[in-house]
Amino acid sequence: MIKFNLKIGKMEEVKSDGRVEWNSEKKSGEIKIRYENGRKIFVAGFCKAELNINELQKISAKIGKKAKGEEIKNLALVSPETGRHPVMGFTEAIIQGLLLGEYEFKKYKSKKVDEVEQVEKVVEEVTIVVKTANELIKTKEEAEKAEIYCQAVFLARDLVNEPSSLTTPSYLAHLAEKLGKENGFQTEIFGEKEMEKMGMGCLLGVSKGSDEEAKFIKMEYSPLSGRSRTIVLVGKGVTFDTGGLSLKPSDGMETMKMDMAGAASILAVFSVLAKLKIKGHVIGLIPATENMPSGKAVKPGDILKSFSGKTVEVLNTDAEGRLILADALSYGLTLKPDIMIDLATLTGACMVALGEEIAGLFTKDEKLKTELLAAAGKSGEKIWPLPLEENYEELLKSNVADLKNVAGKKYGGAITAALFLQEFVGKTVWAHLDIAGPAWEEKGNELMPKGGTGFGVRTILNFLQKA
Ligand code: BES
Ligand code: ZN
Ligand code: ZN
Repeated sequence: MIKFNLKIGKMEEVKSDGRVEWNSEKKSGEIKIRYENGRKIFVAGFCKAELNINELQKISAKIGKKAKGEEIKNLALVSPETGRHPVMGFTEAIIQGLLLGEYEFKKYKSKKVDEVEQVEKVVEEVTIVVKTANELIKTKEEAEKAEIYCQAVFLARDLVNEPSSLTTPSYLAHLAEKLGKENGFQTEIFGEKEMEKMGMGCLLGVSKGSDEEAKFIKMEYSPLSGRSRTIVLVGKGVTFDTGGLSLKPSDGMETMKMDMAGAASILAVFSVLAKLKIKGHVIGLIPATENMPSGKAVKPGDILKSFSGKTVEVLNTDAEGRLILADALSYGLTLKPDIMIDLATLTGACMVALGEEIAGLFTKDEKLKTELLAAAGKSGEKIWPLPLEENYEELLKSNVADLKNVAGKKYGGAITAALFLQEFVGKTVWAHLDIAGPAWEEKGNELMPKGGTGFGVRTILNFLQKA
């Protein structure tokens, strides 16, 4: 782990074997090395008058990698000046960039490879130089926050990267309990018997084909002082999505251990709420199950009765996320939240609409939309609004039940999935984030290797800091 120091003074006074200089004439992201009195200077292009956090994080990750390649152990930098002011949120972005870019999931690599990598040089220390005592206080806060955010992101990434044979619903439930004990929040775990009593027919229906018991995980963080809004966070926890009897083709199934990325992000958020001294009353709900085919599995044409009482005709067992979320969201309503937000790897259609980097945001509440867009902007994560089009609601009407779980149309799948969820949130202020694209990184980039990304953690934490 890199150690971060903060110092008031001049760059030249800092002892380090490398330092960063900003150059507004160079292309953003371009990094060149020059030498000065035996010291390596990383000249980083940064030509934006307006700060784009994602870009700054990427530049920072690149500097980290370059410095590592040059065997630099101590790096010093100041914030670039835009106009007369240093860039706001600079320290946060720089530290996040350096740390996020360092992440690796090596648990299952055999020892030999590990040993080779151990020898590799790493940046050990980064000193951020500021001009005034005031700036130092702000910078210190930003630095601490950034490190905690990254800890949470790494937990979410680890959970997504672990094989689904480990991260079963029971594993997630135990983890929630452990995190609760360590980080000062309450947990309650409901097993299948309790779910039956509660009438969670949709979650139980999805779980029918699996040998693993489904779990409904409830986490509650209530700070002693400053309780303001009650916010319910729901995370889709399908620990493996085969599609069920509507089986996925092999290439579509390959990455489906990531179908609990929403749950992973919510668990990660809870792991740092106390450390960040969040003031809101936050409740996390995770419906956790596998989606498997078997002689006991739910069949197309079956009808499930949800926690809300509404009945659902299951026409495609691969549209399982909306079923388990239906029960979780309507359970969430009973907690009378001011705001409810769900994170779910819900549809391939959302990836068709927005690509792999951007999550779809669905909400009818303009204030919540503005707050979430601002939180995402500050985190460097990308989300974009999509409509809850009323005209499409009738596509979800069933001949035999109150609703069917798929629209049966080729187009607008992300919207009809969101409209299905909307049936279960009553009048509560609610937002749905379809993270199917950005929850998983196919190629790897400056800020993350291939695999789980921990998407949503930083946006939700930024949102809660304001709550
Ligand atoms: N977990 C998938 C969605 C998904 C696809 C996430 C790709 C990440 C990457 C979800 O349960 C699903 O299978 N959705 C179907 C819905 C369809 C049957 C209406 C889909 O998107 O194809
Ligand atoms: Zn599915
Ligand atoms: Zn799924």
